[in-house]
Amino acid sequence: MTTQPARPIRLRFENLSKSYPATVRAGRNATGNLVLKDIELDVFEGEFLVIVGPSGCGKSTLLDLAAGLSLPTGGRMVLDGRTVTKPGPERSVVFQNYALFPWKTVFDNIAFALAAAGVPRRTQYERVRRVLALVGLEDAADRYPHQLSGGMKQRVAIARSLSVEPEVLLMDEPFGALDAQTREDLQVELRRLWRRNNMTIIFITHDIDEALSLGQRVAVMGRAPGRVVDVVQLPFQPDAAVDEIRTHPEYGELRRYIRAVLSHPDAATQAAV
Ligand SMILES: Nc1ncnc2c1ncn2[C@@H]1O[C@H](COP(=O)(O)OP(=O)(O)OP(=O)(O)O)[C@@H](O)[C@H]1O
Ligand SMILES: [Mg+2]
Repeated sequence: MTTQPARPIRLRFENLSKSYPATVRAGRNATGNLVLKDIELDVFEGEFLVIVGPSGCGKSTLLDLAAGLSLPTGGRMVLDGRTVTKPGPERSVVFQNYALFPWKTVFDNIAFALAAAGVPRRTQYERVRRVLALVGLEDAADRYPHQLSGGMKQRVAIARSLSVEPEVLLMDEPFGALDAQTREDLQVELRRLWRRNNMTIIFITHDIDEALSLGQRVAVMGRAPGRVVDVVQLPFQPDAAVDEIRTHPEYGELRRYIRAVLSHPDAATQAAV
């Protein structure tokens, strides 16, 4: 077990399990499909936590539980000491597939989120302009999603999530579909936004290099049932550049270790935190 400094806990996955009902075809006596089992994980205030795990291990399910979009079947999801039962304005989700309204302009996509969050109309304009500037899309406000590249759409999705000024940002493989250069640019941008806005971020990825470049800790999951196999504390400084991180003396070792745990969960050297 690693010793954690005494920091306030923002989100707690408390002995949390999730199963989906057995399918009708599986018969009346079939047990449900256990997707997540006994997840114990604390996310600290202002922390950037990355979750890596093989496809189907329950990463999206875990994020949905944190967002309050679905409820656990065992244990509980806790935010600031209170049980999560529904979504809330302090949490914002960036989905893998952007989830933009194709019939609304960039501006209106973001304004819609602000309206839904109860932000008065007179302040919406200013807020939309500000977040578009943050992600470098000031000039794209009047475009429709089909007129944007994948990277631009993802910037809009991130801008929309930031527009409601979330304290907790939940990101489900947000850069998965992007080319390497755009992905790296957005990684740098996200780290900057995180440092500046003091957000708590849970970021899901398949990519070990992305996990190492972004996070302060990396939770490694195993599958069938989905569980946290290890939580790795990273030694990099919050303001380190991606190049500095990748050339850090411990980088290669950490990368090899996480890869080994992903392929053989028994290789984990410590109990999950
Ligand atoms: N609504 C649902 N009903 C039944 N089973 C579901 C439901 N949603 C997810 N599952 C199952 O739960 C398991 C975990 O799914 P989840 O989408 O959380 O995995 P994941 O780790 O995010 O995978 P990927 O990396 O491919 O996105 C899968 O076996 C999936 O089939
Ligand atoms: Mg997923």
